[in-house]
Amino acid sequence: MKKILVLTGGGDCPGLNAVIRGIAKRARKENLSPSRKDDWEVFGSIEAFNGVFSEPQEIIKLTNKLTAGIHVKGGTILKTTNKSNPIKYPVIQPDGSTKFIDRSDELVKKLKELNFDAVINIGGDGSQKISKILFGKGVPIIGVPKTIDNDLSATDMTFGFQTAVQIATDSFDKLVTTAESHHRVMIMEVMGRDAGWIALHTAIAGGAEICLIPEIPYDINKLVRWVEARYKNGRGFANIVIAEGAKPKAGSITSSAGEKGSEHVRLGGVAYQLSKQLKDAGCQAEIRETVIGHVQRGGIPTAFDRVLASLFGVKAFELALENKFGCMVSLKNNTITSVSLEEATKNSNSVKKDGPLVLAAKGLGISFGD
Ligand code: F6P
Repeated sequence: MKKILVLTGGGDCPGLNAVIRGIAKRARKENLSPSRKDDWEVFGSIEAFNGVFSEPQEIIKLTNKLTAGIHVKGGTILKTTNKSNPIKYPVIQPDGSTKFIDRSDELVKKLKELNFDAVINIGGDGSQKISKILFGKGVPIIGVPKTIDNDLSATDMTFGFQTAVQIATDSFDKLVTTAESHHRVMIMEVMGRDAGWIALHTAIAGGAEICLIPEIPYDINKLVRWVEARYKNGRGFANIVIAEGAKPKAGSITSSAGEKGSEHVRLGGVAYQLSKQLKDAGCQAEIRETVIGHVQRGGIPTAFDRVLASLFGVKAFELALENKFGCMVSLKNNTITSVSLEEATKNSNSVKKDGPLVLAAKGLGISFGD
């Protein structure tokens, strides 16, 4: 009998359950094959590596009953956290401060004691950096990339991204009609951290007038002139999509310290910041702000994301079957393949200022405020 452990880490993302189901179903198929060498049992660790650390451990068997039909559901049946990094494990101190300690050797020991033949770590950039370190310490690990931000360079797309863009576009479409009716400027803030992909795709899909992204700092005076040009006798409207990491040429972005135990700062609130900047710079139009937030990560994945996630799950299991560890599954040129974890974690995928998508958006008349 061979044992495989699956976990989901970092922020959740539509499609995680489809990956889990893909792994479990492919493993079950292997067990029915006459040419098989071993039977496989698939387990899941609850809340990323915390399931292994906790006492008693929270590791569940991913039976057919547990995984049947879950590809349609958002979230993750294994739960997730961004507070279980074994290399920088957060320990809250008596004075309320957080100390980060390295528990990776302890984790490696526990995984060995549990006799796992393979570990599949489904997560974003941070999770794959953890995979790389654990692989270096001898853990037979395979990564599966996930994030709505689409900011991983070693795969052409991550699942969850399409769903986030669809949700953002649906929201944007609703704001357009009310902007027109009231002669207002509508600012809609979307997620994406340091990457502007969600904003850019939403702006093109929705037909925004302005798209502001982290990769292209904006000039507030240019934006005011652009907005004002769309008004005549107080009548007109404009729809702006702004990525949460967007910044003005002069000044900084809004972020707040992360929660206790989290390594990351929290973004969010740039819609309000932009609204104030526009008014301060003389914009006369009425402005309203909408932050769609975590709605972008919730609910059922689109068909595209279900397919991509399912294919990633099947591929991840097959890599384990072939003893190909230290790599991450990836989509390249319409093919599901794999890349080394070294390659997977080298660069991030950001929007290119002069790339085809930005140029096409400019061709459609969308202003980036640059
Ligand atoms: O990385 C995915 C993401 O949704 C980002 O777009 C966003 O900045 C962040 O996670 C929000 O994290 P949290 O769920 O911890 O608030």
